[in-house]
Amino acid sequence: MAVLGVESVVFGVSDLAEQVRFWVDFGLVLSAHGDDEAEFRLPSGSRLILYRHGDTRLPLPDPFAGDGVKETVWGVDTAANLEAIAKSLATEVAVTNAPDGTVRCVCPDGQPIALRLWDKRAVVCEASPVNTPGNHPRFNQHRIWRARALPKTINHVVFFSPDYIASYEFYERHMGFRYVDHSRGTGVFGRADGTNEHHSIFWVNCDLPIAPDHFKFMHIAFGCDDIDEVMLGANIMEAKGWKNTTMNTSGGISRHRISSAIYYYCEIPGDAGEAEYHADSDYIDDNWVPRAWDFRFGSLLWSNNAPPIFRGDNIPWDMQFDATRASFAPFRKTTPGKIAPEGKLAQLTAEDEHAI
Ligand SMILES: [Fe+2]
Repeated sequence: MAVLGVESVVFGVSDLAEQVRFWVDFGLVLSAHGDDEAEFRLPSGSRLILYRHGDTRLPLPDPFAGDGVKETVWGVDTAANLEAIAKSLATEVAVTNAPDGTVRCVCPDGQPIALRLWDKRAVVCEASPVNTPGNHPRFNQHRIWRARALPKTINHVVFFSPDYIASYEFYERHMGFRYVDHSRGTGVFGRADGTNEHHSIFWVNCDLPIAPDHFKFMHIAFGCDDIDEVMLGANIMEAKGWKNTTMNTSGGISRHRISSAIYYYCEIPGDAGEAEYHADSDYIDDNWVPRAWDFRFGSLLWSNNAPPIFRGDNIPWDMQFDATRASFAPFRKTTPGKIAPEGKLAQLTAEDEHAI
């Protein structure tokens, strides 16, 4: 065990006040706020940090134009593990050491990352037991009443990568990430070895018709207790004027088949990507056997408003266990450039992004 999860994400933004209003309404707790920065701290100790574009604390060069997560900071459990990871990274990329002990580099796909020691906190929370017709663990009890959504953790971050298999393998090689699942041609899910959440990072294939052709932030997911907290958050965001405007976000509440997670996206202002309320994910350890999926079968178990490509009853039940990662081969790049998507993947539109 070494990497415990996302210690912080650092956003570059153009409208700091608007961003602060969004994240406060989303349910994050503001822990510091100045003229040029804001910091939110989650119960797990993870932080979301906002700087204005051009701030010297943001990575240079800017990894992509516009608002979004410019630096992902991974929390490490011990100084010895941090040193070992830094040493390994340095065999492949330039690594810097800041006076506060933070280690930084830019991954080959263009992602600026940092690693630092992290005193990750245990989260105290509870979800209401679920009754079924034949089993009533909540007998004569109502569900937990909540006043608002209070996300507890940063569960995962998602980025577009021009070589998503290589992006995952870089993390595995140097930081001990585990291969969890592969949505063939869409992306690969990786888990930090010090957490049990299904995935800590997901790389989406830049070769998809919906993707940019370069590294870019896509979305960030926050762990909530249950479906009630997810939908309470969704209702409050809409009531406060954060109305979703695209099919990607207005697909509404859904459950992925890969990871089993319930999710609901909110559009981050500044066209910065999405903030995801996330609940009831699979929790796994090294007994997990990775799987390779047809993207339409893996993406959705159900959706309030399924994007067009995921509708219909003709989607094949297509999943193979993939311990040998044979599924990587067709998507592995030996030279730069695109591998043209085939079949339904080639027909993806912006309307379908919700389920990716
Ligand atoms: Fe997600």
